[in-house]
Amino acid sequence: MTAQTNNPKEIRVQAIKNGTVIDHLPAGFGLLVIKLLGGMPARKIVTLGTNLKSYARGTKDLIKIEDRELTKNEVDKIALIAPNATINIVRDYRVIKKIKPHLPETIKGAISCPNPRCITNHEAMTTMFHAHTNKKQVAILCHYCEKQFSQEEMVKYI
Ligand code: CTP
Ligand code: ZN
Repeated sequence: MTAQTNNPKEIRVQAIKNGTVIDHLPAGFGLLVIKLLGGMPARKIVTLGTNLKSYARGTKDLIKIEDRELTKNEVDKIALIAPNATINIVRDYRVIKKIKPHLPETIKGAISCPNPRCITNHEAMTTMFHAHTNKKQVAILCHYCEKQFSQEEMVKYI
């Protein structure tokens, strides 16, 4: 379902020629997804829509990144916080591929360990977590301190 409208009083989000549209993000998660992907990509046009009307789910966030196709690794990372997102690859104005993110088994970097005693918070090293789903909720286990964290805790450390 698109967030576009024919109502002239509402702002229209422009279609892109080439790139990636990350759609159906829970409202308020857009910025978090950008952070998870390593921040705003340099020299690329990025549009973030937040609290957009969605016919299917009330409200949603949406991200359009022009001239950049996300890699499988990046797409899968999105499953950590938004497993129901749809990633659309756009070429020459057409959606050529719709991808659903799959929870990756391991996540390197991107998240810091919430455990202040963890070695990763004291040495210059890359974090590593093992992800799994527990009753539909995503949880991560630190490879180094072996502590487990819920999705709610994890999002504060992205
Ligand atoms: N989109 C875009 N630029 C394009 C084509 C599509 O920005 N050239 C955006 C649309 O605005 C929409 C998303 O990409 O937010 C997916 O487009 P499309 O598959 O056409 O929309 P829907 O069929 O509504 O998608 P879904 O079924 O996944 O909800
Ligand atoms: Zn740890």
